Amino acid sequence: MDVIEAINKRRAYRSFDPIEVTEELVHDLARVAQIAPSCFNSQPWRFIFIYGKENIETILPALTKQNQVWIKHASLIVAVFSKVDEDCVIKEREYYLFDTGLASAFIILRATELGLVAHPIAGFDELKAKQLLKIPENMRLITFINIGKKSDTVNPELSEPQKLGEKQRPPRNSLSDFVFISQYGDAINE
Ligand SMILES: Cc1cc2nc3c(=O)[nH]c(=O)nc-3n(C[C@H](O)[C@H](O)[C@H](O)COP(=O)(O)O)c2cc1C
Repeated sequence: MDVIEAINKRRAYRSFDPIEVTEELVHDLARVAQIAPSCFNSQPWRFIFIYGKENIETILPALTKQNQVWIKHASLIVAVFSKVDEDCVIKEREYYLFDTGLASAFIILRATELGLVAHPIAGFDELKAKQLLKIPENMRLITFINIGKKSDTVNPELSEPQKLGEKQRPPRNSLSDFVFISQYGDAINE
């Protein structure tokens, strides 16, 4: 699969079949993050790979109820965290979230290439999750990337909008809403 195919295939599906999580898979996903770019090669990202029924169940109470209904079927959950002083701050521009996001995107695309779904979320209680995972208080827990195999059966516990999301990609802005040529305001032609 080439990059454009992985980009096109990637979707935030919420109906999972289980997969076997091997050390090889964990290393594979960790290695693509390892070589992601970062400001001055700061590598601010930190990840906890959570798998095994008991470990997955431990983290569920920190997620919103809407997320619990589908994430309980994930086979691997990657907690993504960092802190501001792990990366460049250039004239008050803080790069740790940007760089950690880049590394996370690499993980998501690699998982997609491996035929998996990798779905990031923001719906969780950060304090509770950090306590459960023993993440230091001064770090920001940014997302959980929830990984599994797409199921052909739509998870019956999903809400109606979530069920619709399994069928079609949510609409996107037009290019002219967010791409400009030469200067701000001169939108690209569609
Ligand atoms: C930072 C971030 C936070 C998200 N939070 C949630 C979430 O809490 N729950 C959820 O079901 N999906 C969540 N999503 C998935 C988005 O809803 C999804 O990516 C978006 O609707 C576009 O759909 P697509 O990824 O299938 O193209 C999140 C995605 C990102 C990148």
